[in-house]
Amino acid sequence: MTVKRALVNYYKRLKDCSSSYKLDAELLVSYVLKRDRKWLFLNWDFELTKSDMEKIDQLVGLRRKGIPIAYLTGRKEFYKYCFYVNSHVLIPRPETETLLELVFDFRKALKKDAAGKNLFVDVGLGSGCVLISLIKELSFKGNDFLGIEKSQKALTVAQANLEKFKLDYVLGTSKLGESNLILIKSSLLNDLIDFDFKDYGNLYLVINLPYVSRVEYKNLDKEVLCEPKEALVASNQGLALIIKAIDQILEIKNRNSNLKLVAFFEIGIKHKPLLKNYLIGKKGNGKFKFSFKRDLSLRDRFLILDLFW
Ligand SMILES: C[S@@+](CC[C@H](N)C(=O)[O-])C[C@H]1O[C@@H](n2cnc3c(N)ncnc32)[C@H](O)[C@@H]1O
Repeated sequence: MTVKRALVNYYKRLKDCSSSYKLDAELLVSYVLKRDRKWLFLNWDFELTKSDMEKIDQLVGLRRKGIPIAYLTGRKEFYKYCFYVNSHVLIPRPETETLLELVFDFRKALKKDAAGKNLFVDVGLGSGCVLISLIKELSFKGNDFLGIEKSQKALTVAQANLEKFKLDYVLGTSKLGESNLILIKSSLLNDLIDFDFKDYGNLYLVINLPYVSRVEYKNLDKEVLCEPKEALVASNQGLALIIKAIDQILEIKNRNSNLKLVAFFEIGIKHKPLLKNYLIGKKGNGKFKFSFKRDLSLRDRFLILDLFW
């Protein structure tokens, strides 16, 4: 069968189960043929083998059951790069690209970091898409990077991505301050509370922790339910982990008064008023600024916490 006939056939088979059925079919066919999508359109008459067809049929069957394309192909584009993913990590989302843009815009506006090295920390590493994009954009010049992840299975995916991008890293809390790229298996900022940041002038925390409430989780699309629950859900209306991280950040600043510290959080659409109240209540704990930023659909999806005193 030719590429053209195969695509028409797969469009039909996917039409009733996916709003992006054409793209899905094209991604699955190009994945099995190990070509990019553009190639398909330039090679309409290319003949697929029986074995190609069997592989595509099987993937289309799984797609019909609601398995996300990214898990079927093992890859997902994020920011400017393509990352390896599997069902142990959240599939990188376009809105998280905005989180990265906020970091870059903030630094542009700042013009100059405070004296000392910068440490960029990705909390809730997942596939490593945020950490790796930060490294690619900012380079190691004057910058160290740290990724924190609670799930061993997710950490393994992040490691595979670092290897894919040929980035040398070391593993383990004991290496903090000794290498420019460290991964640690830990929860939140637990391992940073007692760390002495004396070699660092600036600490930038980029935080995309689970923030879906238990109630919201029940109503998520079948496809999202294929993603790890521990990458999505948090108690206390989705805020438990974010709030714990905020408290830890305030404590780190208390213990390292010279450190310039800014945290960028991705948050849920209902979180702004709750977080605003929480942060106003925390004002007695020190001096900080906070602001909320919108995503491309104009929903309040990000919090910037700027500890500048
Ligand atoms: C929403 S996903 C974000 C993944 C990735 N940063 C991204 O943007 O695609 C949250 C990640 O945080 C991890 N996580 C959950 N609880 C955590 C905790 N207490 N400490 C550190 N990481 C945690 C999850 O395993 C998951 O990989």
